[in-house]
Amino acid sequence: MRLILLGPPGAGKGTQAQKIAREYGLYHLSTGDVLREALEAGTELGRQAKAYIDKGELVPDEVVIGLVKEKLGTPEVSATGFLLDGFPRTLAQAKALDALLEELDQELDAVVNLEVQPLTIVDRLAKRRVCKQCKASFHLEFNPPIVAGVCDYCGGELYQRSDDQEETILRRLNVYQQQTEPLITYYAQQDLVINIDGERSVDEVSRLIGEQLAELTNKHDCA
Ligand code: AP5
Ligand code: MG
Repeated sequence: MRLILLGPPGAGKGTQAQKIAREYGLYHLSTGDVLREALEAGTELGRQAKAYIDKGELVPDEVVIGLVKEKLGTPEVSATGFLLDGFPRTLAQAKALDALLEELDQELDAVVNLEVQPLTIVDRLAKRRVCKQCKASFHLEFNPPIVAGVCDYCGGELYQRSDDQEETILRRLNVYQQQTEPLITYYAQQDLVINIDGERSVDEVSRLIGEQLAELTNKHDCA
């Protein structure tokens, strides 16, 4: 399967992506995670991305498109399929992905769009904690780790992302509305969009996505 997870900051893309990727054995590519890792490692990519991430702005298209091409163009990913989390985020990125998939003779199966209201987003991100090691997302109230400060999955240390400050969250939301939201129409025109009520609980959202993906798999098997 080749999937995109679309949605505003804090919609639950990372939370759901980890579950779906595990269940279907897909390669999970979060461009945000790759950029943050590069930043921590002090690489050239991280140096280029830092100012944008800190301000809640998008990293330039050519930088992100380059890294996605590098990751998706491998035989391993062609074999497993993929789940994109946080990419594409602009029309230029969506078009570059179309061109890459055509080159690889592959097609997208679906774009899962998590719908969440702005007020929910601020609440979720202000109390988010992320695992330093496996990048799993937790929430101090809605999705707390079993042991405070420790990841349930790998035992890694939990931390607060530097862009999860209220001012930066609002900027990210604005950037999403201006630059990323139009992609819903772009993919709807290709009949790929599956809308999911992202306001529900983590487990309920997983269940809704699971139902839709099962339907998709059945359709494929019958075709
Ligand atoms: P990125 O890392 O992609 O951040 P984002 O899109 O802002 O989304 P988040 O990761 O903040 O939210 P999420 O939807 O993954 O939610 P999560 O599951 O964690 O990008 C960061 C930056 O990198 C960008 O600003 C940009 O600078 C750069 N960048 C990345 N990709 C780029 C690209 N393609 N082009 C250019 N620049 C790029 O959940 C959030 C919280 O809510 C957690 O606490 C979680 O436990 C909780 N939660 C999740 N689901 C639920 C639920 N159903 N109910 C209650 N709580 C829930
Ligand atoms: Mg995320």
